[in-house]
Amino acid sequence: MTVGITKERLDGENRVAATPETVKTFVAKGFTVVVESGAGVASGVDDHAYEEAGAKIAKDAAAVASQAEMILRVAPPSAAEVESFKTGTVVVSFLFPGSNLPVVDKLAQKGVTTFAVELIPRITRAQSMDALSAMSTIAGYKGALLAANSLPKFFPMFMTAAGTIPPAKVFVLGAGVAGLQAIATCKRLGAIVEAFDVRPSVKEQVESLGARFVALQVDTSELEDASGYAKEVSKDTHEKELELITQRMTKNDVVITTALIPGRPAPVLITREMVKHMARGSVIIDLAAPNGGNCEATVAGKSVEVDGVTVIGPTTLLSEMAADASKMYSKNIAEFVLNLAPEGAVKLDMEDQIIRDTLVTHEGKVTHEPTRLAMEKGAKS
Ligand code: NAI
Repeated sequence: MTVGITKERLDGENRVAATPETVKTFVAKGFTVVVESGAGVASGVDDHAYEEAGAKIAKDAAAVASQAEMILRVAPPSAAEVESFKTGTVVVSFLFPGSNLPVVDKLAQKGVTTFAVELIPRITRAQSMDALSAMSTIAGYKGALLAANSLPKFFPMFMTAAGTIPPAKVFVLGAGVAGLQAIATCKRLGAIVEAFDVRPSVKEQVESLGARFVALQVDTSELEDASGYAKEVSKDTHEKELELITQRMTKNDVVITTALIPGRPAPVLITREMVKHMARGSVIIDLAAPNGGNCEATVAGKSVEVDGVTVIGPTTLLSEMAADASKMYSKNIAEFVLNLAPEGAVKLDMEDQIIRDTLVTHEGKVTHEPTRLAMEKGAKS
């Protein structure tokens, strides 16, 4: 099977879907790999490195699309890119089908088989393929660095001839993958960290990183579903939560927010009014910005000031870490591809949860149920 890698064309996207290491893995398994010239440049990999790993270099994306049976990508394809895909091509990419219905429709019409990597289930067998977790690890790390860089104070305690400067205090909201990495990075930088999550089960993980867990005094059974994900909380719990967050905001220099409920817009946990409770010079890093934001004052992709508090909604953290983000992402999707095509050809084993959950279009149809329902609803209205 021929696997193709094209240059990412989304504005500001610096990552690439294969590294020389994963090219070597594919070649060793008997795949042919074709890489578009310049595909790795923004993440620090030149054509020569791909060639040395065993790939062929194609002059442009069209040349890749004409040869490849499978195309690996980072960002969802544009409608124009879909146009260049051959019928029957397999595409593995971030897709976010719910926000990209016209592109999904085009992929189906073109007869492309599409797998959305963000739909990879967080199950043990799929851990090495979990691109969302890999990217959230980066977001948590970079979010903490951004906080340290934006705060007009030291993160660690400083004992100097000019006096002792106390460490910065950081409050992390949401202790999932990004939140735990933000906690770990802030701790490494010497800050005092506390964290809150609606799922009481993360208390131990937060504490194991040396941070304090702030608990909500409510019946915790309603806060976590059977698979361990957070549920949307009741109005009463939400009010209690906002009270607790407001109280912690007055005590901290930095808030890093990462709260997410799968498949839902980010929950608003900090109102514009609540921002005023932080001292001037404080910083809020809203990592949920690409998903709507956990703070009402957040503007995605911007840094805004609200009553002396800097509110940042970063959206380019992954591209700013393009080298390692590409390494991690490439490894994730190489594992995914090897599961999908263990003998060198795609085997659509719908008994396999990983394949079943990620398949979005196949043989002219939209196979991902929530996306299909959203499209039908859109067509009716
Ligand atoms: P995750 O699902 O591992 O963690 C989210 C956490 O939020 C969970 O522990 C959940 O219990 C918690 N949560 C949900 N509702 C809550 C509430 N009402 N109060 C407190 N906690 C609540 O998600 P992950 O992978 O850590 O992603 C976190 C965020 O980071 C997402 O919004 C994601 O879009 C974002 N992200 C941002 C990037 C950027 O460039 N800004 C890049 C990658 C991810």
